[in-house]
Amino acid sequence: MSDLASQLASVSKQFEHDLGSVLTTDDLEALRIKYLGRKSAFQELLRSLKDMTVEERKTAGVMANELKRHIADSIDRKGNSLERARFDAMATEERVDLSLPGIASPRGHLHMVTQAIREIEVIYERLGFTRVRCPEVDWEWYAFETLRIGPDHPARDNWETFFLDVPADPKKGHMILTPHTTNGDVREMERGQLPIRTMNINKTYRRQSDVSHVPMFHQFEGLLVDRGITIAHLKGLSDHFAKEFFGSEREIRLRPHHFRFTEPSFEVDISCGLCLGKGCRMCKDGWVELGGAGMLHPDVLRAGGVDPDEYTALAFGWGVERSLSMRAGLRVPDLRIMYGNDMRFLEQF
Ligand code: PHE
Repeated sequence: MSDLASQLASVSKQFEHDLGSVLTTDDLEALRIKYLGRKSAFQELLRSLKDMTVEERKTAGVMANELKRHIADSIDRKGNSLERARFDAMATEERVDLSLPGIASPRGHLHMVTQAIREIEVIYERLGFTRVRCPEVDWEWYAFETLRIGPDHPARDNWETFFLDVPADPKKGHMILTPHTTNGDVREMERGQLPIRTMNINKTYRRQSDVSHVPMFHQFEGLLVDRGITIAHLKGLSDHFAKEFFGSEREIRLRPHHFRFTEPSFEVDISCGLCLGKGCRMCKDGWVELGGAGMLHPDVLRAGGVDPDEYTALAFGWGVERSLSMRAGLRVPDLRIMYGNDMRFLEQF
């Protein structure tokens, strides 16, 4: 073997050895420079070809060029396989797993009182009651006067009213934050369209704050004005609501009471959700109070322009927050928590 041939053989051997230890593209680039770079020993060797005789160059040149091509091809192939390996690694390491759960943004929900209002609205809507919204800021005329509670009547104290600091009207009196939804009853009758079957759900205000009272609360007032309306209708409606809103096992009872604007008047009680009427620590005698109701007094009908000899009317006005707190399983120790904005409480509903 000529000198050159043995040199080429050792280059080839060294190259195969070096190639075997290439792990990265940087290694490969260093290898390329080592063998094919202009200053490489191998290129030096190739340059020495020119000093050979024509005869010698023929065979040595072919051998040298073959090795050069082999080195270049090997480097290319290695480059390709390194690239493929890189993509393979990316495919497993950087894979996006589309089946993983996403990052959901937090979702809120309606406030428990709003939910209850909507439920109540639907219960009465199915019975043909139209939801109305009478003024929240109203004249004493509608909240008291036309309801037979005169300016000096002691019954007025029951409603702990907030007054607005605006001039009074000679006929309608002061402007107030309405303390009950009954202010809407005469307003509805004044519209002059009979019969009436309305559900007025609104904010009401009283100067009171304790475990069972908030100064701003909601009432829902049913008003039914037609020929031949009786207490039987009031009982039926009350019972229907109790079963729909509280559960079919709940019962109602009418207990005689007194309101200036109804005759007769009642407090509607519902059997306690804990003991179902047997009597327990929560309710004492088995019943809890839902709210007031009655047959509107003839004077109230007259104030609304309705002839009491032809029409009779029932009305009931109950608290939304109170009703909510009386649902079975819900023991609200302090009604004010509903408006405390403590998410730990509100999130549960
Ligand atoms: N407005 C009364 C109250 O707030 C309730 C009531 C409504 C009573 C309708 C009778 C008829 O206490």
